[in-house]
Amino acid sequence: MARGRSKRRRQAPRRRPTPGRSFVATCDRGRCSRGSRWESPATILAASLRFASLVVLSPSFGGCLAGCTDSGSHEEGPNATGGAGTLGYTGGAAGNAGRAAGPAVDWSSLDRSTLRARLDPADVTMAHQQADALVEQLTLSEKLSLVHGAEGDYVGAVVGVPRLGIPALTLQDGPAGVTQLDDVTAFPAPIALAATFDRELVELWGAAMGREQRTKGVAVQLAPMINLARVPAAGRNFESFGEDPYLCAELTRAAVTGIQSQRVIATAKHFVGNEQETDRTTGSSEIDERTLHEIYYAPFEAAVAAGVGAVMCSYNRVGGTYACEHPTALADLKEGLGFSGWVMSDWGATHSGVEAANAGLDMEMPGSAWFGAELETAVGLGTVSETRLDDMVRRILTSAARIGLFEDPPVGSPSAVATSVEHVALALRAATSSMTLLKNESGALPLEGLRSLAVIGAAASAPIAGGGGSAAVRVPYVVAPLQAIEQRAGTAVTVVHTSSPIADDAAAIAAAADAALVVLGVESSEGLDRPSLDLGDSANALVDAVAAVNSRTIVVLHTPGAVLMPWLERVSAVVIGWYPGQENGHALASVLFGDTSPTGKLPVSFPASESDLPLPDSSATVSYTEGLEIGYRRLDTRGLAPLFSFGHGLSYTTFEYSDLSLNQADSAQQLQVAFDVTNTGAREGTETPQLYLEYPDAAEEPPRVLRGFSRVELAPGDTRHVVIPLGPREFRVYDPSQQDFDVPSGTYRIRVGSSSRDLRLETVLTVVGTDGS
Ligand code: NOJ
Repeated sequence: MARGRSKRRRQAPRRRPTPGRSFVATCDRGRCSRGSRWESPATILAASLRFASLVVLSPSFGGCLAGCTDSGSHEEGPNATGGAGTLGYTGGAAGNAGRAAGPAVDWSSLDRSTLRARLDPADVTMAHQQADALVEQLTLSEKLSLVHGAEGDYVGAVVGVPRLGIPALTLQDGPAGVTQLDDVTAFPAPIALAATFDRELVELWGAAMGREQRTKGVAVQLAPMINLARVPAAGRNFESFGEDPYLCAELTRAAVTGIQSQRVIATAKHFVGNEQETDRTTGSSEIDERTLHEIYYAPFEAAVAAGVGAVMCSYNRVGGTYACEHPTALADLKEGLGFSGWVMSDWGATHSGVEAANAGLDMEMPGSAWFGAELETAVGLGTVSETRLDDMVRRILTSAARIGLFEDPPVGSPSAVATSVEHVALALRAATSSMTLLKNESGALPLEGLRSLAVIGAAASAPIAGGGGSAAVRVPYVVAPLQAIEQRAGTAVTVVHTSSPIADDAAAIAAAADAALVVLGVESSEGLDRPSLDLGDSANALVDAVAAVNSRTIVVLHTPGAVLMPWLERVSAVVIGWYPGQENGHALASVLFGDTSPTGKLPVSFPASESDLPLPDSSATVSYTEGLEIGYRRLDTRGLAPLFSFGHGLSYTTFEYSDLSLNQADSAQQLQVAFDVTNTGAREGTETPQLYLEYPDAAEEPPRVLRGFSRVELAPGDTRHVVIPLGPREFRVYDPSQQDFDVPSGTYRIRVGSSSRDLRLETVLTVVGTDGS
């Protein structure tokens, strides 16, 4: 595993208070304290802007004109990306000396509203009109009946109004497919999909899940789950898209698009600050305002921009106030992010009638404890206005109209067969793509040239498919690794197995085999966090005992996220198989035997020590003291070497990166980062190049943040030209004093590589930002 340098932080930490909001702490890049003083971005950036005067900026887009000083070569005219003009600078490989200046862009006159992702309001206009027309015809009691749960055959239900053609709403979990019903596909868990870094696949997966929901008669899928894996041991990390807000936002967009393509309303959940299970219904998440906007709102912003119909507010409090009655957070969602759909409570997360309705909660789930008789009385008394009730109903009907439920209501039934050959094939493809090879020494994998193989561990014969809680899917079957390995190995390889957890039993069969495969599972569920990242003494002893007698020991871990590996140096290979769904064994065998080269990349950091990243907080207050430094950002800031870094994942082949250039895209304000990736090995493989942005110090961002990725399939010897778009939105930071995003002026470094710690190419860019400096 390659280790990259960690950017040095400035010596004196700068305090950055977050004025104006009662629920946020005052923090310096997440280190929260009270009474700090705001220092204007202009002051902070003045030093870095001395640099900007060295370069000549074009008056319009600001492509660097002749005379820019840098050590790279200058290109002229259109390039291979299809007619985009160059910025006149080609960045060199990492380590280039003398990088005094790169190209420059002038975004000073940019409309700051473009720094937020938004759904085009035109997409909602017709649905609004339809909803308005219906609201006018509804009686008060009909309106009231639409804003709370009712009895039904699903996880949640809302009665319809047949006389107006408003269908009943049926709501069902969840993020990994249809729950609680038979004849569905058990797809891999979202964390496995996140490991694919594959937007197209996630959209297909979303569409397949949506189709199954629709077949079952579901109108509203309670997914995607877009809380971030802030706490490595958090019980619901398997339902998440990992620790990085950019990755999560990109995959959220794809998942929402996929689900809603099937005329099923997607539900982005849980808004907001629900990053652990410990005390989730009582704890208060303390998140500074900048962090909230940059990190935890970002996936919700993407969901809204993708047109998500519903958002579920979470159990926890935020700054002392329950999320489902939090006026500021809900206003941020509706007004700030432009969400036109409805907010439903998590199941039992409504704690008031009047306060919640007036704060912005639109629907109580799953019953009517607060939004039944109590809301009716409140509307009668005027403590909740009928205008507000109309708004609640209008939001529900707007999403129903926009996703097409009026013209095409769900007609499926819970007993219908929803799974299909195509969906099983997709589940297999997704599981295979997610397999993440962390270590592979001495050609341990793929399994070639063997006459005998010892398959050890309970998870080899009693396989893990998914996690527990409301996302648990009823699996029709799970292909066990042992079964698939025996099938694939055929008669040429003798496969022996023990599921005994006793180290001596395992060592006895491992000693006699050409290679030993240890398959271990780590369980995880909603409702409780994992007690530790440690696999436990017995599992660790098992691996050690096997590794002591077999020099070709391969460990496969079906885990929802990070684990510690005290035996890492003593084994030859490690594969993370995540929660792979029903096609577990087939996907694993395909990768182990080299029918497919592994393609997964870690969507979470694997820390070297449990204390390197936040632990579940069991106090009444869950302090997000790390602020912007979630996951790898924290490890990078602190200069801590991870066990395996975010974005890491090996292939059976090797890739070389070359020829990075920074170009102006056809559309105004957009840049393109272009480079080549070559398969330098003897097998085909897929690489996921990742783009990380390093802000000028004055921006007070973590050392580097993911701002782009791609996926390229390459035959041996082939080269692909990769283009990653980069626009002002990728350079934004949230300024609490203005309650808006800005692009800080200064010099940025753009780095491209195979993981957050294996950066191969880089260039610099000078930006005149929106901050008026
Ligand atoms: C509680 C969970 O937090 C939520 O994700 C789920 O959708 C509801 N229960 C309904 O099952």
